[in-house]
Amino acid sequence: MSKVPNLASALDSSIFKTISKAAARLSLESYVIGGYVRDYILKRGDAKDIDIVAVGSGIALANEVAKLIPGRTKVSVFKNFGTAMIKTGLMELEFVGARKESYREESRKPAVEDGTLEDDQNRRDFTINALAISLNDSNYGDLLDPFGGVDDLKNKIIRTPLDPDITYSDDPLRMLRAIRFAAQLHFSIEKDSLQAISRNAERIKIISKERIVDEVHKILASEKPSIGFALLDKTGLLPYIFPELLALKGIEEVEGQRHKDNFWHTLEVVDNIAETTDNVWLRWAALLHDIGKAPTKRFDKKTGWTFHGHEFVGSKMVYKLFKRLKMPLNEKMKFVQKMVLMSSRPIVLASDVTDSAVRRLVFDAGVHVDDLMTLCEADITTKNPKRFQKYHNNFKRVREKIVEVEERDHIRNFQPPVSGEEIMKTFGLKPSREIGIIKEAIKEAILEGEIPNEYEAARAFMLKKGNEIGLKVV
Ligand code: CTP
Repeated sequence: MSKVPNLASALDSSIFKTISKAAARLSLESYVIGGYVRDYILKRGDAKDIDIVAVGSGIALANEVAKLIPGRTKVSVFKNFGTAMIKTGLMELEFVGARKESYREESRKPAVEDGTLEDDQNRRDFTINALAISLNDSNYGDLLDPFGGVDDLKNKIIRTPLDPDITYSDDPLRMLRAIRFAAQLHFSIEKDSLQAISRNAERIKIISKERIVDEVHKILASEKPSIGFALLDKTGLLPYIFPELLALKGIEEVEGQRHKDNFWHTLEVVDNIAETTDNVWLRWAALLHDIGKAPTKRFDKKTGWTFHGHEFVGSKMVYKLFKRLKMPLNEKMKFVQKMVLMSSRPIVLASDVTDSAVRRLVFDAGVHVDDLMTLCEADITTKNPKRFQKYHNNFKRVREKIVEVEERDHIRNFQPPVSGEEIMKTFGLKPSREIGIIKEAIKEAILEGEIPNEYEAARAFMLKKGNEIGLKVV
């Protein structure tokens, strides 16, 4: 028998000794398991979430550990799940009793029975997540790896401990987790597993939208998100999660004219933007920036393929998509909508950068104008190096112009230089339509460059405009 590797080096933190001591007091075996062990071996930095499995009651172990930590330590108990959680320092410890589980057909909620460590490792999602390190005195630090998880880490493979049909059908969220780990770690999903995901794809329907979105967020936050989205497509999960993206797939040809495949284009845009920003909401905008193209696609004999108004239609679709996926309908969603709505604006500007057009762009995009430019730059996916350079240079000029105009005109956080109150006082008005007309006229004059964005000039303009519409100064 080969020697069991010892990973006591993973147990530097004093908390592990504390857990070991608490478990000994209760005469329980305990182990660190799952993501912490995986990430330690992968040298992915210090994981803060630590999963502890006890052969016996996880809740009892958590209570005992809390007693040994100096000061008062809160134990959050989730009785229904048989788990307990302790926060100490920056760490979150999750305690669970080892179990054997069998799942019912229509639910993720398992019928639970107590089990051994091996039973517990068996029911975990992937071999790389079933690695356990002993906290028991007799073999402290030993790595228990019954399914070759270490080899799979070395060979960058995602594989289930059991028959993948069982593992995925037991908990269909794991299909998404497999894809998420493939994207995060640049691993490949083993062939049988991949086929099992395709066979079980429909069962993703029983998973809550919140959990699905959690995984999608993690895919989007990874270095090369296209890995995840391509796998969602390949396994047939995409239609259950993003039918809007699936609808972008394919190339049509009419009278010898073809349009590009907007699904693969979108994935390139997402990868491009992932190189320049960690803002996951901007990455969402990249993912959704073309979704309006499927419903607006037309072929015109004169102009060829068109997608008129796709930005507007797309921004409406963002709302529906967020709602369907139970994502927050808050300022993050509005940001994504705005990016989608404005996604073609800088392109129009690129060929003819006038000051007034730049002022309008900055006025409409406001504080998000840089994000919008980042999105447009990521949208350049031409394979022609000359054009690639030309488009980038054009946007560089737009960016320079934005800085220049902004320094002079301060449009980004536009505040009307003359307030509604001053307009009312000047002309002796009660709240009325005229005030809106004058305010709008001042704003337009500034954006058009007729007057500078300054108080004196705006006041003079207000007097002139008031006079034009028959108002008298009081
Ligand atoms: N697990 C599982 N099936 C799931 C979710 C989790 O078998 N659907 C097991 C795995 O052993 C996993 C452990 O529970 O390692 C902890 O799960 P979680 O904290 O969600 O994930 P981590 O693997 O720790 O990874 P990450 O923190 O990146 O999500």
